[in-house]
Amino acid sequence: MKKLSVAVIGTGSIVSGGYLPALAKHPSVNVVALCDSVVERAKLLADEYGIPRVLGTPENVLNLSDLNAVLVCTPNHLHAPQTCKALEAGKHVLVVKPMALSPEEGEAMVETARKAGKTLMVGLSYRFHPHTQYMKRFVDSGDLGEIYYTKASWLRRKGNPGGWFTRKALAGGGPLIDLGVHLIDTIWYLLGKPSCLSATGSTYGKMNGHSSTLSAGYRSADVKEGLDGGKEYDVEDLACGFLRFANGVTLIMDTSFALHTKADAHDVEIFGTKGGGKLYPAEVYCDLHGTPADIAPVLPKVSNQELEVAEFVDSILQEKPSMCPGEDGLAVLKMIDALYRSSHVGQEVAVSD
Ligand SMILES: NC(=O)c1ccc[n+]([C@@H]2O[C@H](COP(=O)([O-])OP(=O)(O)OC[C@H]3O[C@@H](n4cnc5c(N)ncnc54)[C@H](O)[C@@H]3O)[C@@H](O)[C@H]2O)c1
Repeated sequence: MKKLSVAVIGTGSIVSGGYLPALAKHPSVNVVALCDSVVERAKLLADEYGIPRVLGTPENVLNLSDLNAVLVCTPNHLHAPQTCKALEAGKHVLVVKPMALSPEEGEAMVETARKAGKTLMVGLSYRFHPHTQYMKRFVDSGDLGEIYYTKASWLRRKGNPGGWFTRKALAGGGPLIDLGVHLIDTIWYLLGKPSCLSATGSTYGKMNGHSSTLSAGYRSADVKEGLDGGKEYDVEDLACGFLRFANGVTLIMDTSFALHTKADAHDVEIFGTKGGGKLYPAEVYCDLHGTPADIAPVLPKVSNQELEVAEFVDSILQEKPSMCPGEDGLAVLKMIDALYRSSHVGQEVAVSD
């Protein structure tokens, strides 16, 4: 079987906890190099997984002659430049979400991939979640009827990841661009990717500092290793929004790094004329023989990254479009950008296609 030679740029929390175990498990992948500006971090992982090369700069990765593909897993502000350079060097790229800081950067990435004739996949991980896939089958089969209303919420009471995640210049924003990208994408994907017409958003930064004393939860590798106190904070800590789609569907969403709410929650809900559903975990609500009934499926536990890496590998080896092309990452980025713009101007704004 043909194998892909893959390198990973950025070896922080999501790589050690998600992407690297997934790559190591895949029978058609050879991880040939890890790269991180904190070289010791990459070296520890390389030793653990038996990976031959550790590099401190992405340029040296792209010079490797035996390399087919690159995973870009660095802080958000590096996604566009590192992805474009890798594509121009003739490598296929899986870039983690959010694909970039702005739609302009996202457009440049899509265009660079097109010119290079290489795969650009965006890590829209929650599409792969078995519970999302279960719900997708209900939507696509028409079992829920016409979907007209959706809600998505990812609230953390005291849960900013610290480090670069709380610096606007490096992250592009707070929970809206970090967690909201998954919320919006999951709904948009379930709905069959309708065109988004308009956005109304509000963002708040009322709790700065409150959220920086994390004891648990998702954290940047720098914070975990004590290299960064995660105290600098100029992103929003709450965002809420209202999106209107061309097919008449509405999405209401909210997401926080810090909020005086009782408990952390990650809920995605869709409502149709024949049934409704809720994620995570998946539940379906319908009427069976005239009586309200709830369906609670028993689904396998598989990491999103395992399924995502498998899709990336298949798309390259089988020369087929991936389930999360750059264009989809860009569409989601445009909705996020519109929510931020709306918050800035204090009124509804159009979302450009
Ligand atoms: N798909 C998902 O569900 C998911 C989950 C978590 C994070 N992410 C995304 O993954 C990315 C990384 O997140 P994380 O939590 O791993 O962050 P992290 O801070 O833990 O890791 C980032 C790593 O990049 C390294 N780095 C920084 N600048 C570099 C450079 N110029 N060259 C090489 N390496 C460099 C850092 O040293 C660090 O090790 C983010 O864009 C985040 O949004 C995706």
